[in-house]
Amino acid sequence: MPKTTVPDIYKKKAEGRKITVLTAYDFPTAQIVDEAGIDIALVGDSLGMVVQGIDSTLPVTMDEMIYHTRIVSRAVKTSLVVGDMPFLSYQADRAEAVLNAGRFLKEAGAEAVKLEGGVAVAETVRAIVAAGIPVMGHIGLTPQHVNVFGGHKVQGRDEAAREKILADARALQEAGVFAVVLEAIPSALAREIGGILSIPTIGIGAGPHCDGQVLVLHDLLGLFDRFTPKFVKRYAHLKDEALRAVKEYKKEVESGAFPTEEQSFT
Ligand code: KIV
Repeated sequence: MPKTTVPDIYKKKAEGRKITVLTAYDFPTAQIVDEAGIDIALVGDSLGMVVQGIDSTLPVTMDEMIYHTRIVSRAVKTSLVVGDMPFLSYQADRAEAVLNAGRFLKEAGAEAVKLEGGVAVAETVRAIVAAGIPVMGHIGLTPQHVNVFGGHKVQGRDEAAREKILADARALQEAGVFAVVLEAIPSALAREIGGILSIPTIGIGAGPHCDGQVLVLHDLLGLFDRFTPKFVKRYAHLKDEALRAVKEYKKEVESGAFPTEEQSFT
């Protein structure tokens, strides 16, 4: 199968086929996402929480994102690789934002970047796209604004917040994003945004009316259990299974049941 491209993502939307997106952070998770035929492997800054064990995405650095994205790109054969721009890699200075976005393509093998925000980052998005770097937007609950929101809370419930999110969606499309993630907003608002935009909407906690869905892989697999947002569906319980296997190994080493002749050399 050939590599998925940005035009392929538009084509899926045009044909009414749902777009699938999952996060990946390292070689084995990227292989799983890729071999399952997921359209987009997103190297999310959620790795701060699910890989590094931090309480938010804020401390994640550009160098860490480049490191993980490079590994994911090495594993992926068909999924489109999108690198997530970390906190303060694009907000302070437009030229720096373009250079940082470029690092994902030049140094890490990504084909696109994602960044958070709407109206406030629209000119930055325009500059990155003008440099030839496809950008995925991200509005609604944008985790890099956790301190403004006072927690990871559903957004867009009152009229002012709804209007702001609609304005953000329009601004991003005008600035040239190829798709937009809608996180933790009411389903009706996601549907309204989908009716206004021509680009694909990718939902996470935004209901069933989006053109595609994204989840954090560790949530889906049951590898992350510090908290579980309402929008997560667990398709496996890999932490339980891994724990069982490691406990069994411990027991067998301690009892002498492992290794046997089978695992030994003559
Ligand atoms: O960082 C991330 O994994 C994300 C997705 C949840 C959309 O931004």
